[in-house]
Amino acid sequence: MKKLVIAIDGPAASGKSTTARLTAERLGYLFIDTGAMYRAVTLRVLEEKLDPGDERLIGRLAEEMQLTFEHSRDEFKVKVNGRDVTRAIRSPAVTKTVSRVSAIKSVREIMVRHQRKIARDGGVVIEGRDIGTVVLPEADLKIYLVADVKERARRRARELQGGGIEVPVDTLKDELEERDLRDASRVNSPLRKAPDAIELDTSRLTVEQQVDYVVQKAREILRSRT
Ligand code: DC
Repeated sequence: MKKLVIAIDGPAASGKSTTARLTAERLGYLFIDTGAMYRAVTLRVLEEKLDPGDERLIGRLAEEMQLTFEHSRDEFKVKVNGRDVTRAIRSPAVTKTVSRVSAIKSVREIMVRHQRKIARDGGVVIEGRDIGTVVLPEADLKIYLVADVKERARRRARELQGGGIEVPVDTLKDELEERDLRDASRVNSPLRKAPDAIELDTSRLTVEQQVDYVVQKAREILRSRT
């Protein structure tokens, strides 16, 4: 039976990665984190000390850098020119600049090419901002995750704490709001719910409930096609 393409979009820290990763694990699909791709370009922009507004130079950098992904059921490893940057792309400096870099049209075109290629054969749970609207509008199942911004900030704080980093919840809330505004108001492929996406508010759901919901929807679709 043909395996599904499941698109999960939504604002920052709405639970996309966790939901996508665990859903992929349950269904035996691949997990694809498209934010990691924009983060990898941003890391290189910072390393090369480029101006994040220099579209021409950044477009060239994105075209020339060799991005490889090792995606298994539970991990999405990113390599730039053979170097594993999976951890480096999560730094606060990258998080702060990534919205500017990901707004650049040529960068998006290159990343979308990568994303469509990986998803070509189905059997993927792919998460981002524009997957259901632009990258894979024909996806079999589209989920748009939302959550109260205060709750998202709390989750992010806990996540950072796990890595030994203490950031006040209010600071994180401000950062999330700023990034969401940038992602949603950009001209190229803004963060937006696809008309045929199912909106799921995770503010009061456990991770397990979120994943159960998506897996159940996927199984309904698979059953309807047998
Ligand atoms: O999901 P994340 O926080 O790792 O994403 C980092 C940034 O990348 C996010 O602020 C917007 C951008 N992004 C995007 O523009 N399109 C995607 N499909 C995924 C992420």
